[in-house]
Amino acid sequence: MKIQRAKLINYRNYKSEDFEFREGINFILGNNAQGKTNLLESIYLACTGRSFRTNRIKELFNSGTEPFFVELKFSDSDDSKFIYLNKENRPSIKVNNFEIKGRSELFGRFPMILFSPIHLLMVSEGPNKRRKFLDREISLIDKNYFINLLYYNKYLSSRNKLLREEKFDERLIEIYEEKLSEYAFKIIKKRIEFTEKLNSYSQEIHSYFTENNEKLKITYSEHQNWKNNQKYDKIIQDYVQKHRENRRRDIKTKRTNFGPHLHDLNIDIDGREIRKFASQGQLRLSAITIFFSLIPFIEEELGKKPIILLDDVFSELDKSRKTKLLEVLDGYQTIITATDLDGVPIKIENIKNIIEIENGTLRRQI
Ligand SMILES: Nc1ncnc2c1ncn2[C@@H]1O[C@H](COP(=O)(O)OP(=O)(O)O)[C@@H](O)[C@H]1O
Ligand SMILES: [Mg+2]
Repeated sequence: MKIQRAKLINYRNYKSEDFEFREGINFILGNNAQGKTNLLESIYLACTGRSFRTNRIKELFNSGTEPFFVELKFSDSDDSKFIYLNKENRPSIKVNNFEIKGRSELFGRFPMILFSPIHLLMVSEGPNKRRKFLDREISLIDKNYFINLLYYNKYLSSRNKLLREEKFDERLIEIYEEKLSEYAFKIIKKRIEFTEKLNSYSQEIHSYFTENNEKLKITYSEHQNWKNNQKYDKIIQDYVQKHRENRRRDIKTKRTNFGPHLHDLNIDIDGREIRKFASQGQLRLSAITIFFSLIPFIEEELGKKPIILLDDVFSELDKSRKTKLLEVLDGYQTIITATDLDGVPIKIENIKNIIEIENGTLRRQI
């Protein structure tokens, strides 16, 4: 899958602009606040149905009233069009000019990996960011996971609503707990499978980046309690039982204190939890590694090469790591933003495309 063109109309600081992309490495250059990240964001939006920076769709409109749209053309795949007519309604998402029903129909169709500085929070902050990472990345390759998650969250909020009521129907909460346990099983099973693969690819990439000096390890927080040979029914029964035991406490706290909505990823370097012990440089490299390990994973799962979008990835990396990073990208269509090419260890003939952006307009393309 190769992106050929992106057309943006009234999207953030763009009025009407057309960009051409080529195979291999594409650079988007420009000073700060000119629209580099906005352009990557628009591509991500048209491929996944979501921005990676905000859930507030209003922020994406260039002006108060005009609709915005982003249109992507691919050389060897479907085309995608994301249109937002007004702030009140849902967007219209079209694939090959046919409107699709929901954004989950995009999942798996336009595989894409995006790394931006906000994803550093995934390694440095609390569990919420890591759960979001898991849920987003697994959903993008597995639509069923996304649907299971929707059901889980639906039953979770129904149970929580009951917990807040003065008096509730015991039978109803039992039904919710059974449903929750059923979906929890599916979600946890998938998360563990995903994490095991992610761990093995990450270890390989991290060893390469650090020249075998550090060992990165990623595990799912519950993996030890999860016995592979345990029967489906038994696990569900245990979960139902646990919810029942917790009920009194849950009523006090008015929420469900057990289940995958509270799980985490443990990320260690040489046996130490990175969130507590790692340096800034180690955090950065681990986050990059984890995103890069999605590349072989997606390729294996979907049989397609993902497009790689990298926002400001070079800052604060030393030269040897920048070189290694570019080596990993060989063979993939990549779009990288940077303020300039100073210190980027790449031969000019290896750059297929340079787009210079100034104040929401295409200043020059080389
Ligand atoms: N909805 C919007 N309408 C108009 N301009 C916007 C909108 N959202 C962001 N901008 C502008 O976009 C610029 C930031 O773009 P960004 O892509 O983040 O810059 P950078 O080139 O540093 O990555 C800022 O000038 C900001 O004011
Ligand atoms: Mg930016």
